[in-house]
Amino acid sequence: MNRRDFIHTSCVACAASIGVLSLLQSCTTNKYVSNIKIEQNKLSVKRTEFTVVKKGKAIQQKFIILKPENSPFPIALYQLPNDEFKALYLQCSHLGCELNAFETTLVCPCHGAEFNTNGEVTQGPAIIPIKTFVTSSDAENVYIQLA
Ligand code: FES
Repeated sequence: MNRRDFIHTSCVACAASIGVLSLLQSCTTNKYVSNIKIEQNKLSVKRTEFTVVKKGKAIQQKFIILKPENSPFPIALYQLPNDEFKALYLQCSHLGCELNAFETTLVCPCHGAEFNTNGEVTQGPAIIPIKTFVTSSDAENVYIQLA
């Protein structure tokens, strides 16, 4: 294979992988919740918000996006194994763009930083974790302590 063929083949493979990744990510549907109760800086969300019904089937979402009133950025609330929850503020720690949430990662559309669902940086240019909140839960609700 000569240099020209190698570059052509590499570019086609790269473009194809980007296309497949974009297609897979666009297949996931995020559930947005805006009717959120906030009392004494504690936000409460019904556990049932993690369930969506599609074509008559109840599907459990791994995460939901919360849009609290007066909050400049949404919060992604992830349901983890062992009935634990993780709440992450969707503001990139690099220059402040709004992050896109996916099942296992949060991606910044501005410069490509990525974070895991613990808020830790997995790809730069960001170098510090994103803001997370303390969570708790009972049989009906999940609570997020905002301050
Ligand atoms: S603002 Fe998110 S990577 Fe720059």
